[in-house]
Amino acid sequence: MASDTLTITDNRTNLTYTIPIEDGTVRSMDLRKIRTSDEDFGLMMYDPAFMNTASCRSSITYIDGDRGILEYRGYPIEELAERCTFLEVAYLLLFGELPNEAELKNWVHEITHHTMLHETTKQFMEGFRHDAHPMAMLVSTAAALSAVYPEAKDVHNPATRLHQIKRLIGKMPTIAAMSYRHSVGFPYVYPDNDLSYTGNFMNMLWKMVEPKYAANPVLARALDVLFILHADHEQNCSTNTMRSVGSSLADPYLSVAAAAAALSGSLHGGANEEVLKMLDEIGTKDNVPAYIRKVKEGHGKLMGFGHRVYKNFDPRAKIIKKVADEVFQVTGNNPKLEIALELEKIALQDEYFVKRKLYPNVDFYSGIIYQAVGFRPELFTVLFAIPRTVGWLAQWQELLMDSEQKIARPRQIYTGQRRRQFVPMEEREPAVLAGA
Ligand code: SDX
Repeated sequence: MASDTLTITDNRTNLTYTIPIEDGTVRSMDLRKIRTSDEDFGLMMYDPAFMNTASCRSSITYIDGDRGILEYRGYPIEELAERCTFLEVAYLLLFGELPNEAELKNWVHEITHHTMLHETTKQFMEGFRHDAHPMAMLVSTAAALSAVYPEAKDVHNPATRLHQIKRLIGKMPTIAAMSYRHSVGFPYVYPDNDLSYTGNFMNMLWKMVEPKYAANPVLARALDVLFILHADHEQNCSTNTMRSVGSSLADPYLSVAAAAAALSGSLHGGANEEVLKMLDEIGTKDNVPAYIRKVKEGHGKLMGFGHRVYKNFDPRAKIIKKVADEVFQVTGNNPKLEIALELEKIALQDEYFVKRKLYPNVDFYSGIIYQAVGFRPELFTVLFAIPRTVGWLAQWQELLMDSEQKIARPRQIYTGQRRRQFVPMEEREPAVLAGA
């Protein structure tokens, strides 16, 4: 079999280079030796939005976009969603193996005993306006934890790292619930250590004056499955942010805050909130064809459709549809489901979407379920950030233990002017500003 190499002839110099192919990639740094002269910097790869660039080696999550496959540490997502709890999957993502009974019991105990927030953090959150978006509160408060735990800067200390990881996994639901209670003017509810991870989350969200909150087990389990499905997804935009910020050795609280900020964008984790707005705009099943026509004419996107990697069904969307049935048996049907199903049916038959391989992604149905359970759309991306904190931390830890990694610092193609003559103030004309 021919050797795993690439032979490149530079037609500018007629020189030929042989570059090794490793794991289906060539190293961008190997291109730097392709020069036209000794003064030449050498070739770089130009890849805006990293459409075709591997930034790291990772053994956490495997995705096959063409076949619609998703595995966490080699286990199919369908099996994990069916047979595990979220904290069990969190352990798997972070440590690489499913925990045995004793390990899981201890892990759950540890996370449960890190759900409280320092009272000054509660006061910090009280400073937000009543109508502050929960994602803005979550991003800011996650960053504020950096001031509460300054020892977190010691990112190369495994014990310190693990302590912050437990704190973040334990506290994200508390921050999320408090951002919701703040927005509706209800008093904050403290964690109840007798409850499960999602049961306690629901307690902190919805307990009113009853002495003890009892979560509906079907809804608590549905949330647990949704958390499993959202836990990690290899090098997505927010995980890339976590790795980039983490590569400068910033502490995990500031890195998670940056990652959550990336997740909040409408093309990423903010899509589930946009799906509900889109379904509200469509209004009824009969309006679906007209809306699809509008999208095909280039007016907006079908939110919850399409994916950079999946060119087949997002396996998570299939599982979420099953969870929807279980939830609606408890909450009653969400009328928006009918519009979503019609949208999916028509889009999957329409050449515009078929040609572009646009299928429903994880965000298409999750919002409908969240709304049926009782969450307001502003909270949907927060519900994405809670479980994805585990993925961000697993990827961050893998980065810090990877000897190949160093501070992320891409290059550029410079398109600006050079060596301009300085213009004294009295000679300056009103400027037409670029991008204004
Ligand atoms: C998540 O990366 C991850 O893994 C993310 C995620 C995770 O778990 O972390 O899976 C979570 O973010 C899911 C995606 C949620 N976002 C949305 O649902 C927003 C709507 N979708 C799109 O904006 C889009 O599909 C992206 C952002 C998801 C992917 O965009 P790409 O890969 O950059 O694709 P593209 O924008 O280049 O689109 C290719 C073509 C374009 O048309 P042409 O220029 O060829 O004519 O497809 C069109 C796009 O206009 N297109 C859509 C569309 N998505 C792409 N047209 C209509 N509706 C859409 N949703």
